[in-house]
Amino acid sequence: MKASYFPDHFIWGVATASYQIEGAAYEDGKGLSVWDQFCKKEGAILYGDNGDIACDHYHHYAEDIQLMSQLNIPAYRFSLSWPRILPEGTGHINQKGLDFYDRLVDSLLEKNITPHVTLFHWDYPQALLDKGGWLHPDSPLWFEEYTRVVVERLSDRVEHWMTLNEPFCHIFLGHKTGEHAPGFKLSDKDILQIIHNTYLAHGRSVLALRSLARRKPRVGIAMVGSPVLPATESPEDIEAARQAMFNLKGDGSDLSTIGLWFDPLFLGKYPEGYEKVFAGVLPDIGPEDMKIMSQPLDFLGLNIYYSGRVRMGKDGPEGIPETLGMGRPRTTMNWPITPEGLYWGPRFFYERYKLPIYITENGMANLDWVYADGKVHDPQRIDFLTRYLLQLNRALSEGVDVRAFMHWSLLDNFEWAFGFDRRFGLIHVDYQTQKRTLKDSAYWYSTLIQTNGRSLFNP
Ligand code: FCB
Repeated sequence: MKASYFPDHFIWGVATASYQIEGAAYEDGKGLSVWDQFCKKEGAILYGDNGDIACDHYHHYAEDIQLMSQLNIPAYRFSLSWPRILPEGTGHINQKGLDFYDRLVDSLLEKNITPHVTLFHWDYPQALLDKGGWLHPDSPLWFEEYTRVVVERLSDRVEHWMTLNEPFCHIFLGHKTGEHAPGFKLSDKDILQIIHNTYLAHGRSVLALRSLARRKPRVGIAMVGSPVLPATESPEDIEAARQAMFNLKGDGSDLSTIGLWFDPLFLGKYPEGYEKVFAGVLPDIGPEDMKIMSQPLDFLGLNIYYSGRVRMGKDGPEGIPETLGMGRPRTTMNWPITPEGLYWGPRFFYERYKLPIYITENGMANLDWVYADGKVHDPQRIDFLTRYLLQLNRALSEGVDVRAFMHWSLLDNFEWAFGFDRRFGLIHVDYQTQKRTLKDSAYWYSTLIQTNGRSLFNP
């Protein structure tokens, strides 16, 4: 494949999230988030790290925007800290918190960088958790109220919105396995209720955005978008991958089945067999609920990192067990390198849900440091992105409507339970001094953007 299929208006961007970069956890009237609290729990975070300071982006935002501008990055996906804006989650508005996002948006626009705002990337107000969190029947209303406050303030300048980031990780890792904040290990019944409430919150937020925004909004959501890969390109294996992604299996693993997480939002119904597979643990479903949660969206955001594989066996899809082992390539997260995810992901999700696709996250953690020559050489990241983007180009060449690619991340940052140990940035951050150093991949990405992807073919 030699041709570049990135369309003229393709959106190239970088992504971050509030808790992972902002710091200033106890400044200017911000309320506590569940991550502030979770990081205090012994053993919760590798090396006892926390996001109190992180990249201190709250104070370094101008410098960070200047670096984006130097790299000619046209789009920036970032999230807002709900408790920075509403310290108690609802009610009292912290003007200083909103002022920060005002300054951020204005500074981006001054440099011709388009803001893409995620309303919720996991830093939930602790005050709301204390009232019952996402299990509380009012939780969708709380999120709607927060959306209204934000839209009121920012929608004269912001047009691009995402309601939630990765409900799967937030709910599953935060409330089922306990690896993420708030560190709960709840029953399946509670998890299904939390999914339901979270999706109602999403729907109400979309409705609020559409009715209140002063500039016509483009609204979507960022989902865990890693597909299941077919072992070969035979029609049988491709069908096996589809089935593994979207069909409930009834074998106890269905809380992780992709269809459970996507279908309610994009098809307005839970997947076939839902009532049977989850009999006895079903959530309360009101008559209007499915309509509310499946509000039409302008795009589907996919965060894609790595995938497993299946083949078609005698009785349906069979997993191919070992993606690592035998010295196979992997990143510092120990995630296998599976570039075809950026082909099959967009293809399968576009086929089923028929929405324009944004890749809202893709990238890799690497053991980067500043070399003796003062630079950060990260050839692995350049090779990783080359391989993944060539696969995305294949999806585009076959007519999949992909509109955006956002690299995770702009900066090295607080990688949740792994603290500062895993570096995903195009820009290296020395957390002792807050010095930023552009990595080789940052210059490479800048060239890629300026050639609209053509440099992939003439490295
Ligand atoms: C995603 C998260 C993002 C980042 C990357 C590596 O699951 O959305 O915040 O941690 O993984």
